[in-house]
Amino acid sequence: MTPDSETKCQLDRACEEAERRATEFEADFAFVDTFLKPFPYVIALVTAKKVGVLGALSVEGCRPEALALASGLSEDRVRSILRLLSEMSVVEGIGSDNLRLTQRGKRISAEWFGHPVIGAHLRMYEMILPSLPDYAMILAAEMPGSAMHWPPQDHGASVDFEGFMTPTIRFVAAWLDKVFDFSDTPNLLDVGGGDGSMAALLCGKHPSLKATVLNLEWAREAVHRTVEQHSVGSRVSFYGADFLSQPLPSGYDVILFSRMLCDWGDDVVRRLLNGASSSLLTGGAVIIVEALASPKKQWNSDPWFLFWETLVPGYAQNGFRTEACWRSLSSVTGFVIEDIHICRNPPLQGIGAIVLRRSP
Ligand SMILES: C[S@@+](CC[C@H](N)C(=O)[O-])C[C@H]1O[C@@H](n2cnc3c(N)ncnc32)[C@H](O)[C@@H]1O
Repeated sequence: MTPDSETKCQLDRACEEAERRATEFEADFAFVDTFLKPFPYVIALVTAKKVGVLGALSVEGCRPEALALASGLSEDRVRSILRLLSEMSVVEGIGSDNLRLTQRGKRISAEWFGHPVIGAHLRMYEMILPSLPDYAMILAAEMPGSAMHWPPQDHGASVDFEGFMTPTIRFVAAWLDKVFDFSDTPNLLDVGGGDGSMAALLCGKHPSLKATVLNLEWAREAVHRTVEQHSVGSRVSFYGADFLSQPLPSGYDVILFSRMLCDWGDDVVRRLLNGASSSLLTGGAVIIVEALASPKKQWNSDPWFLFWETLVPGYAQNGFRTEACWRSLSSVTGFVIEDIHICRNPPLQGIGAIVLRRSP
């Protein structure tokens, strides 16, 4: 075959391939649009925050030239970022002299990691992205002490992880306080109690309540800081322990497991509930705060949880449990379910508070 006819054959084959794979390629475009292309939006948002574009936009009537000066980026780059931010409804007024943040843009810019709905996702991206190329190795070696190992292995990691939960904890505490009467509760144990915000908020509201926050030793400093901020010093104490290997302390009227049992399998949950049964005072209650899965969806298929399960070494998430699962776990550990409250309002929609009492 001459070179010419070889080329012609190749071109014919390419035509045939394009025809043969037309349906497949169409689906691939849809795949790219849905799953791969959104990524630049994250980069645009994080960059705009880091280089001060979002901050500068809080002054209305900004022009791209001024944003370029404020951020140190070229005007072209600023314009591209602005277009992406505009598609995200973070910025409006593109093409005019009156560039400004939308209401959403103002909320994101001001609250950032602290935003109750968006903050945790931004935080996750920032933690994962710097080591993304190394992640395969980190996961393969399951490196304890890597930035994202679960449970936290040091003070810094503990601060990072608590940061995922604290933006919403005030809403959880406020709602829990509505569905359960803490005014009659002398002593509360908050197991896996984060940075102590839940305990501090409840003690701040109920003058006769005392609370112990059980968490890994790494969280001690964060809890002390929270206690100081809320001025509830004498009534909130820290108990450093690993609940996987150490028993729960005794003498409590209420033992709370808030948004932490979904991190563990049934064996750990059974152990913790058995421990709670031994630690509770007579007549006391266990409260489990956790999103409830529907009977059809036994495990959590939310990409966010799968992301955790995949990218956080040590994290063997069990997923949210159904009401039936909780009934069975309660009954094998000597409890009965007294009440189940379900929150219907954002940002806690679907979260349940399950109140258990020891079986008679
Ligand atoms: C998902 S956070 C929940 C925090 C808080 N209860 C809330 O509702 O926001 C889980 C908490 O459990 C703590 N934790 C994880 N493993 C632990 C262990 N083995 N012993 C004690 N605490 C642990 C973490 O440090 C973290 O504070």
